[in-house]
Amino acid sequence: MSNSSLMPVSESTSSSRPRVGGATVRKAKLPDAVNIFELVNSLSGDGTLLRRNYAEICENVRDFTVAESESGVFLGCGALHLYGPHLAEVRSIVVKPEAKGQGAGGKLLRALLAEAEDQSVTCVSLFTRIPDFFFHFGFRVVDRTLLPDKIYKDCQTCPRLYACDEVAMARGPIPRIAVLGPSRFPQPELVKLQAGSIASNTGK
Ligand SMILES: CC(C)(COP(=O)(O)OP(=O)(O)OC[C@H]1O[C@@H](n2cnc3c(N)ncnc32)[C@H](O)[C@@H]1OP(=O)(O)O)[C@@H](O)C(=O)NCCC(=O)NCCS
Repeated sequence: MSNSSLMPVSESTSSSRPRVGGATVRKAKLPDAVNIFELVNSLSGDGTLLRRNYAEICENVRDFTVAESESGVFLGCGALHLYGPHLAEVRSIVVKPEAKGQGAGGKLLRALLAEAEDQSVTCVSLFTRIPDFFFHFGFRVVDRTLLPDKIYKDCQTCPRLYACDEVAMARGPIPRIAVLGPSRFPQPELVKLQAGSIASNTGK
């Protein structure tokens, strides 16, 4: 690897690099869902980000904030998932490779934190492999078992459950309550419910 490849690329030396200096952030709209889907899933193969399917992104598009260049080019996204006033989670935060290191990621994270504050959320959490980035913004490493809502939402069904290489982080007081838990219905009960609802929908 040459020394020059380790140097930050300045805008004047790379014409393909978008101008991010004036990046703006705004709440996502449904037409952003395709860009979000493609960018998030480009980093889900190696586990950097959780895979999100297109339908799930559309359904939760109001969780997302996007960053764009002065000329309106999509640069990145991040989401704030609300569990309740006790807890929110930063998810799917990512900036396009060619736009990294120019402030867009920081702007996205600040916008998500402002949103959490606006919603009167007391603790913001996340799971990450790059804690150093989040230290810049007041997060600290915490024991993941202190965040049962996250465990029940994602970890229990995650293929990396027993080989997780992410650290849990939080900003604000750890919640004393949780709103999620194991499914209340065993699988056969769910099947029965489904069969019942099909029968009632068809008038049988
Ligand atoms: C993490 C990511 C969103 C940061 O976006 P970015 O636009 O490059 O970040 P910024 O340029 O706004 O950096 C803000 C600050 O964080 C620092 N920073 C950026 N990336 C960092 C990293 N990986 N580790 C430590 N610090 C980092 C910057 O130096 C900067 O510090 P400064 O304000 O003191 O100058 C981006 O690198 C990315 O998309 N990574 C891949 C996806 C990913 O890992 N997401 C996190 C999943 S939890």
